[in-house]
Amino acid sequence: MSLRSSAWYGGQDRNAYIHRAWMRRGAPADAFTGRPQIAIANTASDFTPCNSHLNEVAESVRQGVWAAGGVPLNLPVVSLGETNMRPTAMLWRNMAAMAIEEMLRANPIDGVVLLGGCDKTIPSLLMAASSVGLPAVVMPGGPMLTGTFRGRPLGCGTDVWRLSEEVRAGTLPAEAFLESESSMIRSRGHCNTMGTASTMGLLAEALGMVLPGTAGIPASDSRLLARAHETGRLAVEMVRQARRPADILTAGAFHNAIVALAAIGGSTNAVVHLLAIAGRLGVPLSLEDFDRIGADVPLLADLQPAGRFLMEDLHRAGGLAAVLNQVADLLDKDAVTVTGRPFVDYLAGAAIWDPEVIRTREAPLRPHAGIAVLRGNLATDGAIIKPAAASEHLLTHRGRAVVFDSVEDLTAHIDDPDLDVDADSVLVLRGCGPRGYPGMPEVANLPLPSKLLRAGVRDMVRVCDGRMSGTAYGTVVLHVAPEAAAGGPLAKVRTGDWITLDVANRRLDVEVPDAELAAREIPSALTASLARPRRGWEQLYVDTVTGADVGADLDFLVGASGDTVAREGY
Ligand code: FES
Ligand code: MG
Repeated sequence: MSLRSSAWYGGQDRNAYIHRAWMRRGAPADAFTGRPQIAIANTASDFTPCNSHLNEVAESVRQGVWAAGGVPLNLPVVSLGETNMRPTAMLWRNMAAMAIEEMLRANPIDGVVLLGGCDKTIPSLLMAASSVGLPAVVMPGGPMLTGTFRGRPLGCGTDVWRLSEEVRAGTLPAEAFLESESSMIRSRGHCNTMGTASTMGLLAEALGMVLPGTAGIPASDSRLLARAHETGRLAVEMVRQARRPADILTAGAFHNAIVALAAIGGSTNAVVHLLAIAGRLGVPLSLEDFDRIGADVPLLADLQPAGRFLMEDLHRAGGLAAVLNQVADLLDKDAVTVTGRPFVDYLAGAAIWDPEVIRTREAPLRPHAGIAVLRGNLATDGAIIKPAAASEHLLTHRGRAVVFDSVEDLTAHIDDPDLDVDADSVLVLRGCGPRGYPGMPEVANLPLPSKLLRAGVRDMVRVCDGRMSGTAYGTVVLHVAPEAAAGGPLAKVRTGDWITLDVANRRLDVEVPDAELAAREIPSALTASLARPRRGWEQLYVDTVTGADVGADLDFLVGASGDTVAREGY
């Protein structure tokens, strides 16, 4: 086996001397002679509280790497915390991916364990590893345990949305809402709902990039550390077998991830992340594939936000394997995992231990769970909706638009008693795409007017070029492309226009003739709200980010550049 790291550590010359000497610091004498160098790309950070326990997970990975004859090396990488970063953590997903890619390539690394958890961390790690192509395995940090408030379980995110709307509706005192705050986060780990973090951990496993049976183990569960140890060993083995991301992340692997996304009722954010990862590998994946592959997959996991339970429940009920064993016939049989064995091999015999949490194929929560991809004169490049998180009666709907040109415009007017809006109106929020905001924030589940909330309305059709938190719910059409900032038709809609949503026929239209729509001016309030950065990352991002319909990566980061570095430093 010839190791990539031997280009640094092999030989007798001055450069090899320098590379070895500075790395010794207590390492055994044979550390640099033929032993795989395994980076542990670690997104632990106090500013990413969902990942702050990853240093302990990394320690278990280190033990596993040593045990298998490799050398573990901590590689702290850019970490993105979902709850604090302004304007939105998504603005830096591509930056993290770019930085991680460069660090993996520049250093004497033979293989990498990717430690992630909070929403953007696993996507950025997978994008980076896909572009570099070194043997890589994801170790998900796992979800939190279930917190409770006044005797009821609290779902991270989802219950924040629900309780805050109850306060606005006048059905929950503000003090009770604040009292629940200290009960929301019961333990280490990421959000315990089927939000983006849970979704991406499980999809990383469905993609084959996680040691099967690992994703979804709660962060506080000792079995997670045992899996971390095994994952460390596996990384060494993967280097010896030269098993690379491109061997695992095939079209079949993405097929399996899309089936899984539907069956677990996963986050809509997975669409942009999977498209971006596929783009790094050159695997052809389009928005329509999500509909084509996912449409007939039943919804089997009864988890918030679409359902009732939380990740701890999913794990005790049998986890991802029990869910996917129900739909094994829909999966690609050839897609292999990090172990080299097909993903489907790990599903046989996986039982459902609680049929309330994981439904059988015969008794699904919904017969068709996939994310629906809409087209029409309002979304010429596509938009998506998650029917499982929507209200059935609104999936076919016609209503008058109430348009907001920015989040600030929305905040200023949504609770105005004079706002001309009723339960049938379609709320439109624009200027929130990748380029417009910038960073495509999770604002698409815009709050309902409080006068309608007080009248008992709990859902309305909403249309936005931004994203929606994976923990949110509602009849929300999101990722509308092209975004308003790119001159999409969404920029031309006016309050009072009739909008029709027809999910069954996959349509989203505004009842304005195309010529008239095209001739309309873009309102100055919209133009004024759009991002106009003058330097730095934000400028690079706004100038080069692609549409949500193709993954919102930077145009020059699409594709792979491999692990070769031609020149030495001297
Ligand atoms: Fe980190 Fe939800 S905020 S996973
Ligand atoms: Mg989020």
